[in-house]
Amino acid sequence: MTFVGLWRNLRDLHLQLNWRVIETSQVYKTIRSPPDNFRDRGNENIFSMRKLKNSELDRLSVDEFKRTEKTPIIIVLDNIRSLNNIGSVFRTSDAFLVEKIYLCGITATPPHKDIHKTALGSTETVDWEYIENTLDVIQKLKSENVIVASVEQAEHSVMLNDFAPQPQTTYALVFGNEVKGVAQNVVSASDLILEIPQFGTKHSLNISVSCGLVVWDVFSKMGSRKV
Ligand SMILES: C[S@@+](CC[C@H](N)C(=O)[O-])C[C@H]1O[C@@H](n2cnc3c(N)ncnc32)[C@H](O)[C@@H]1O
Repeated sequence: MTFVGLWRNLRDLHLQLNWRVIETSQVYKTIRSPPDNFRDRGNENIFSMRKLKNSELDRLSVDEFKRTEKTPIIIVLDNIRSLNNIGSVFRTSDAFLVEKIYLCGITATPPHKDIHKTALGSTETVDWEYIENTLDVIQKLKSENVIVASVEQAEHSVMLNDFAPQPQTTYALVFGNEVKGVAQNVVSASDLILEIPQFGTKHSLNISVSCGLVVWDVFSKMGSRKV
């Protein structure tokens, strides 16, 4: 190789390395995932994809959570039997800054060790209230101009992927009992029904899984500042 050739190779290598360092630091500082064309650039091994420690996740403290602006989503639990499911709904609600959870009928209330197992402290952050009759909650929310959406499989339901939340609107999402689902009188009193499409053999999903899917979907469609 001539001296000029060697020099060009070294310069190219330098430019490449320089670019990678800049790219690495920018990506690392701003987003956790690499850019779309990351692999096309032959960058397979630049990132270690090291798992983050809890201390690196920048979560809110309980006080900060209480003060922070909430997502205009309210959850109503209609007669949920499993305490683990209740706790799991709390944890999802914490993650997406849900305004409030109404616990109705046989739905157990915190504190309870089996709720705590899945809630992991989120019963201390998310606001909640027990109201025995689910229909009373639905009527109260409707009188406050909240749009009540039962999450169920029902005639004239709107498939979740087709649902577009209206701006400046608070939605109450009602989830139902593990066996009976959302009571028919609650479904009938709702403004709309949201259904999660399913393609396999099972008739329905677990209630807390449904809650995770729907809350994430609605949260992201609301164009939260966090996404
Ligand atoms: C296990 S399901 C209840 C199934 C029950 N067999 C029924 O008749 O509704 C518990 C709750 O999860 C939610 N859920 C489960 N799968 C769903 C789906 N595909 N679409 C909408 N909601 C669903 C609903 O809120 C439902 O009330």
